[in-house]
Amino acid sequence: MKEKKEKLLEIASKYGTPTYVYDLDRIKTQYQYLKDAFNWPKLAICYAMKANYNPDILKTLGSIGAYIDAVSPGDLYLALQCGFDISKVIYTANNMKETEVEAVMKTGVLMNIDSLSRLDKLAKKYPGARICLRFNPDVVDGEHDKIKTGGDLTKFGILLEDADNAALIAKKGNLKIVGLHEHTGSGLKKTDSILSAMKNIMAIATPIRFPDLEFLDFGGGFKVPYGPDEQQINYKKIGKNITLLFKDFCIDYGKQLRLIFEPGKFLTAQAGALLIEVNTIKQNRERIICGTDSGFPQLIRPMFYDAYHHIENISNPNGPFKKYDICGNICETGDLFANQRKLSKIREKDILSINDAGAYCYAMGGVYNLRPMPAEVVLDNGAIRLSRKRLSPEQLVSLILAETSGNV
Ligand SMILES: Cc1ncc(COP(=O)(O)O)c(C=O)c1O
Repeated sequence: MKEKKEKLLEIASKYGTPTYVYDLDRIKTQYQYLKDAFNWPKLAICYAMKANYNPDILKTLGSIGAYIDAVSPGDLYLALQCGFDISKVIYTANNMKETEVEAVMKTGVLMNIDSLSRLDKLAKKYPGARICLRFNPDVVDGEHDKIKTGGDLTKFGILLEDADNAALIAKKGNLKIVGLHEHTGSGLKKTDSILSAMKNIMAIATPIRFPDLEFLDFGGGFKVPYGPDEQQINYKKIGKNITLLFKDFCIDYGKQLRLIFEPGKFLTAQAGALLIEVNTIKQNRERIICGTDSGFPQLIRPMFYDAYHHIENISNPNGPFKKYDICGNICETGDLFANQRKLSKIREKDILSINDAGAYCYAMGGVYNLRPMPAEVVLDNGAIRLSRKRLSPEQLVSLILAETSGNV
């Protein structure tokens, strides 16, 4: 632990702050854990690259056999550039316009279709295509309302009761339905939800309705502990039930299908940290405001989902504990990483590590207030390597001006 803190301080001193750090070895360990937990001969772990599209992470996961869940043309092109074979990519976008469908179909990627309307259009334009169908599993779970993707209050997937309609449309267009998919939500709180969603999909996956199935894909959502009271779920324990359930299904279906999961958070969240520097300490009556050199556009989860991220003062880990508001440098009142958080005494110039920041942090980032995104550094077999540099404000402005050159 001490060694890790020293490494983080070394990174902050060498590359400055704000800087994201990703431990590639931890990502490999997480991947292997899931491979072991779901012991099925035809198992695919399909990395939901929306969680973190850093090319070093993509290449690392590609090198150990991961598949890719891509959700946009940008995702797809980056995955291909990082060496993924098109046969290992599933394209799960929603609300696509025609130009997107045309561009993506040209690559030969397997499309995951999530509405009857899109299915109908696809059947007319691409008769004979191989596709996957995304269903709404009708199970509601997830660590925040904004990331629950099953049930009535979500835009995702085809309703289970429309399975016959979907099969009929596909049959008319001679479409080959090779896979069925669901994703219940992110940070599933109850392991029962995974089993319930699987059962709901299996119930519609009959050989009469869908005779050409090659796989069932049960999405992501494996939870990681963020807060001090949260426990790590033992997925190895429920893995046995999952593989047994799938085995029985395959016997009934009459074919050994591929079992697919699409984790994002589970693979990368705990492997990442955002290093930030304290530049201002302000005593606002009874509150101590700790001002830092990052802000919510660079790590939005606390502001967007009220998410908890553990924060450590790695410059002064043994100081007396006090309560702080850990704030960013953005002109918004809600620009807070933590509210009244107990931390070891913070001084100006201290480096704070915002932990578990490897998923949905950099990837959801932006340059609001025109502050460039942090650098990204990887720990690869323990060695420190710059993965992506931080632009200077001048470089960021040059990019903006280059893109708007006709207008200024
Ligand atoms: C379709 C789909 N699959 C997989 C994931 C990954 O979820 P998580 O990062 O919680 O594992 C998501 C994220 O929301 C998703 O929308």
